[in-house]
Amino acid sequence: MLEDIQEILLSSEQLSARIREMGRQISADYAGKEILMIGVLRGAVIFMADLARAIDVPVALDFMAVSSYGASTTSSGVVRILKDLDEDVEGKHLLIVEDIIDSGLTLNYLLDNLRSRKPASIKICTLLNKPERRKVDVQVDYNGFTIPDHFVVGYGLDYAEKYRNLPFIGILKPEAYKS
Ligand code: XMP
Ligand code: MG
Repeated sequence: MLEDIQEILLSSEQLSARIREMGRQISADYAGKEILMIGVLRGAVIFMADLARAIDVPVALDFMAVSSYGASTTSSGVVRILKDLDEDVEGKHLLIVEDIIDSGLTLNYLLDNLRSRKPASIKICTLLNKPERRKVDVQVDYNGFTIPDHFVVGYGLDYAEKYRNLPFIGILKPEAYKS
């Protein structure tokens, strides 16, 4: 697994320091409220687990799984819901938790979908952001790290379901795409 990584972009220390900061900011912004975190499966799971523990207001967790049709490393914008939320979100403060925002198409779809369910508020929190690749404008409320346009894996992010358990974010060697 490690032999497929070209470079460590964000170490586990950098990730945990930034997530602690994000947790403090989110806790302050939501003081006196309850948050319903909506994790986008599967990439966001590891980030969400750490972020939730860095927040000191009440947090409930729910999940959605979506898949975009098209090539494996890019998003086509056509989104299919594979697993919907278990909870009714009407009147709740939603915090969408994403691993990475790339084209923005997945999130754009999710936002429209969730808005129609009449929550009290919706904010977006992403660990990683690749603004160079944006196709639709999305307003990101909490952004962990802005990164250059490389395909990255680890800390929840995969290539073909591999590398999610790496404790850091790394750039995958081009050879690893082909095997
Ligand atoms: P969009 O383009 O809709 O896509 O913003 C977001 C989803 O695309 C996947 N994605 C990546 N996954 N390394 C990954 O492991 C990457 O560099 C990468 N870029 C985009 C990811 O599933 C994300 O939720
Ligand atoms: Mg993925």
